[in-house]
Amino acid sequence: MTSPATPVEIGDPFTAPFGSLFGDQITIAKREAGGEYEYSGSAEQMENFSMHPATHALHYGSTCFEGLKAFRQQDGSLAIFRLDDHAARMTKTVAQLYMAVPDTELVKTMIIDAVEANAAYAPDSPGSLYIRPTLIGTQINIGAAATPSDSSMLFVFCSPVGDYFAGGVRPLTIHVETETPRTTPQFGRAKAGANYAMALGPTLDAKAAHGADQVLFASEGDITETGAANFFLVDDDRLITRELDDSFLHGVTRSSVLAIGADLGYRIEERHISLEELAEHAGRGEAFLSGTAAVIAPVGTLKLHGETVSVGDGQPGANTLKLRQALTDIQIGAAPDAHGWLTPVAG
Ligand SMILES: Cc1ncc(COP(=O)(O)O)c(C=O)c1O
Repeated sequence: MTSPATPVEIGDPFTAPFGSLFGDQITIAKREAGGEYEYSGSAEQMENFSMHPATHALHYGSTCFEGLKAFRQQDGSLAIFRLDDHAARMTKTVAQLYMAVPDTELVKTMIIDAVEANAAYAPDSPGSLYIRPTLIGTQINIGAAATPSDSSMLFVFCSPVGDYFAGGVRPLTIHVETETPRTTPQFGRAKAGANYAMALGPTLDAKAAHGADQVLFASEGDITETGAANFFLVDDDRLITRELDDSFLHGVTRSSVLAIGADLGYRIEERHISLEELAEHAGRGEAFLSGTAAVIAPVGTLKLHGETVSVGDGQPGANTLKLRQALTDIQIGAAPDAHGWLTPVAG
């Protein structure tokens, strides 16, 4: 058994806004044009970056990231959840931005090193250490609008976090946006900064007009995902989510929920969900969001075609809570890691 590092107090992750507290160590690898990513092999003190005002990422959206978590285990040790899958997804996004793709092993090493160096900031469950690998284009040339950045920088830092949605596990209100898509169809799969900028307008409008916590993007009746999480329907028998294509982010939590759901005996359906089915399901079943930050977040109310539709009785449902518990138990080592999702790290 590893004994936990002495926690470092930088603020309370359970009351501070999600993502506003930071560990002080960072791992950085830089790649010059034509070269390889060069990493010193260890974390360093996190400082502000200094960059030329003409840096590519500041102008042309050459920026992408990942979001994963390290969990303090029940025995006090620390483990990263689904490291391989997040590193693999990051390299796919980088390729979509036409920047030099770092080796997946390098991404994983830099994540592990960053987590170990920031281990003292990892809160106990239900908190976690949120990990933010980021890759930006660093070419200095404002004429490079139509060319990818030929140099880049990969860095990984960490943020101790509590709940993503203020108020903990509570039923969310979701506005179903049937006109504006979250992003472009070919870019939905990329975890690129620009996608989040595109989702801002509809999200702010839905908050102002409908008091919504989040937007479910369903342009032309095609239910995909929310601004920062995937979307599920569940009842006592079936677990239903949109089938994968390039139009939305392939959530690692989504894939975990599907695997856990199958383990628990749910019938798994990955397919198109129509707005009619959504309304019908709301009358009798449950709905939830899934994501690294959101975990499994119950939906209590839908704002659909201007109507307020209660999902079930409007409260977190038994199936949603069962799946959430099963997921978080694996994440903290309270249930067997049957799928091999945890990577133990020092700390
Ligand atoms: C747009 C979007 N969809 C889905 C997800 C869920 O993905 P994951 O479960 O890998 O965190 C996220 C969160 O990262 C997201 O930003």
